[in-house]
Formats: sequence, C-alpha cells, structure tokens
Amino acid sequence: MKKITVAIDGFSSCGKSTMAKELAREAGYIYVDSGAMYRAVSLFCIQNGWLTDTDINIEELERNIETIHISFKTNNEGKSETYLNGKNVENEIRTLEVANGASRVSTLGFVRRELVRQQQLMGDDKGIVMDGRDIGTVVFPTAELKIFLTASPEIRAKRRLDEMAEKGETPDYEAVLANVIERDDRDQNRAESPLRKANDAIVIDNSNLTRNEQREILRTLFNEKTLE
Ligand code: DC
Repeated sequence: MKKITVAIDGFSSCGKSTMAKELAREAGYIYVDSGAMYRAVSLFCIQNGWLTDTDINIEELERNIETIHISFKTNNEGKSETYLNGKNVENEIRTLEVANGASRVSTLGFVRRELVRQQQLMGDDKGIVMDGRDIGTVVFPTAELKIFLTASPEIRAKRRLDEMAEKGETPDYEAVLANVIERDDRDQNRAESPLRKANDAIVIDNSNLTRNEQREILRTLFNEKTLE
C-alpha cells in the first residue's frame, strides 16, 4: 500500500480534528493539528503580555519567533498533546481567549512562514494526516488526498455549545454563533494564506452526516488513493 499525505482543511468546529485523528489511528499515520500550533503561538504571546484585546506586540513576537518550538507527544491514552518549548500546554490552548488570539496571530506572515516550515518538516516522510486551513494549498500542495470539510455556521455553533456544556460551561448560543462567524470571516479574508479550497480538494459537507457516514466516505477516498 502506498504511503500518502492527507490534508484536511475547513472552517473552525467542523470536526476536522476528529476526522483526521481517526484516519491517522486507523492508517497508522502521524496526526498533526496545525491549529494547535497557532494556538501555542497565541498562548506564548499572552504569557509574555504581547497580546491584549486590542493589540499584538508584533515587534517582540517577530524578534522571538525562532525561540518558539512546538511539538506533539502521544499520552498514555493514545491522545496527541501539544508542547510549547517542552511544556505540555494541551489544556491551556483550548480556551476561547487563546482561540481568538490564534485567529489574530495567524494573520501575520512571519508567523505563518515559521509554522509552515515546521509543518513541512513533520511531513517529510509522508504517512501524515494534518488538519488546518492552508494544508492543501500551502503546506502540502502536492498531497495525494485533500479534503475540504464544511458545515453550516449554525450547526457548528450548536456543536461547540454542546462541547462547552459537557465541560460544565453555560455559553449563550447567539454569542457562540457570532464568534464562529467572526472567525470564519477572519480565516477567509486575511491577506496571508486565507482559508481556500484547493482546486483538487474534495468537499465534504457534514451538516447532515453522522460520524459513521463521514468515516465511511473518508475511508473509501483514502483506500482509493493508497491502492492507486
Ligand atoms: O483549528 P483551530 O480552531 O484550532 O485553529 C486556531 C486558529 O488558527 C484559527 O483561527 C485558524 C488558524 N489556523 C490557520 O490560520 N492555519 C492553520 N493551518 C490552522 C489554523
């Protein structure tokens, strides 16, 4: 069976990482959550006082960008966790504050260039599933299998609401929906590597798909590409 590169792009809260993780596990491939890397940069800025509601200290971030080292390690339960300069930050990067910061630092060209460089190194030997926004267009333009995953903003807001409720939070639906729409807008309209479907990507709209249906579609596509 041929070893390939799988790029999964799409809007936030579409279930990209669930899909990518499952495929990587089944195929015995490396899984990389590229969004976690932008979140780690956001956390690094917050920790240093370089990111507030209104400002980013771009000069300091640029001066220090090469000191940011992001890696992934699999924990005892088989789950991939994000490390920032050797420290496990998996829980810290999942807050709304860090997510909003990630959406802002990801508009900066020098941040993208550094993270893309690190991502391309991770994919040197193929056998990788990476999810994000620019994986099929910029990071791995020659990936054999490219998926563009989408779902309506309302469905994604509802999914995010359910996730937050599971953690005991009680967010307001309208506020969550507004945040989904704001982040979509920023992801699609930034000047640097905006979220776009690659010409050769296959679109999957999972608004009305069960997880099993989605899994079956992906498995069929993966098998086609690896048996070619
Ligand atoms: O997928 P996520 O929500 O964890 O991503 C966090 C932010 O990083 C999101 O606003 C989009 C951005 N991002 C990006 O610009 N490029 C990527 N390859 C992955 C994420």
